[in-house]
Amino acid sequence: MAAGRLEGKVALISGGASGIGAAAAQRFVAEGAKVVLGDLQREKGEALAQKLGASAAFAPLDVRDEASWRAAAAEAQRRFGALTTVVNSAGISKPCTIEEATLEHFRETIAINLEGTFLGCKIGVEALKGGKGGAIVNVSSTLGVRSGAIFPAYSASKGGVRMLSKSVALHCAEQGYDIRVNTIFPGAIHTEMVEGYVVAGEQAGATREQVIAGFASVHPMKRLGKPKEAADAILFLASDEASFTMGGELYVDGGYLA
Ligand SMILES: NC(=O)c1ccc[n+]([C@@H]2O[C@H](COP(=O)([O-])OP(=O)(O)OC[C@H]3O[C@@H](n4cnc5c(N)ncnc54)[C@H](O)[C@@H]3O)[C@@H](O)[C@H]2O)c1
Repeated sequence: MAAGRLEGKVALISGGASGIGAAAAQRFVAEGAKVVLGDLQREKGEALAQKLGASAAFAPLDVRDEASWRAAAAEAQRRFGALTTVVNSAGISKPCTIEEATLEHFRETIAINLEGTFLGCKIGVEALKGGKGGAIVNVSSTLGVRSGAIFPAYSASKGGVRMLSKSVALHCAEQGYDIRVNTIFPGAIHTEMVEGYVVAGEQAGATREQVIAGFASVHPMKRLGKPKEAADAILFLASDEASFTMGGELYVDGGYLA
């Protein structure tokens, strides 16, 4: 049997219990990696880890908390050996305009999406440097490049992730650390996050089909993305196939940003 594309890798995936993070965990294990799913959702994360078998484990993680990151990274090391890979997929999205948004909403979004990714990068660099080479993959959004009226906090957080990733990539390159840092930019991917929008649309009087068609219509490819499609982009950036890809941006958006 051919070796998996991630054979020998040990990955910590934030937001690994659901959506894109969960799909990445599934793809990683299928390609030979050992994976720790870090998430607030214990029950869901444990169930997925169990389904994925001996190559997966769950660690409780609140990405806003540095100590929680250190504990999750230590758990990965204890279970599977030295970390090689960090995926920052944990995130939230609660749409509201600048007039509706409270400072609390703004701060919560920044704390999880941007500060959480900052901590994931910080702990990632610390754990990966001096090792046998590694990768950090961050999850921004098309809304981190092109915004919309109902996304002041979300777009600010994801635009922040975009530039944070580049700075971390440049630092690692300058220091000669064998750590690659790259970012994916998903369009609307049909996960629990988008399902939340579908339910909100239904509550506002639209049909499920209308809301989904509305999301699909923003993409030139006229459909929603699948979690596996975002996960495959993460897999590529985490693998040695992306060995000269650094500070890069990979769109997974059906042509939206083209
Ligand atoms: N689904 C999309 O259309 C889409 C598009 C662009 C970007 N993204 C980004 O992709 C990432 C994954 O989103 P998804 O669609 O898979 O959503 P999801 O809701 O299915 O998964 C997000 C996960 O993050 C976890 N999480 C939230 N806050 C956390 C915290 N403080 N600490 C640890 N875990 C926490 C949740 O428990 C959940 O398991 C997010 O960063 C999101 O912003 C999603």
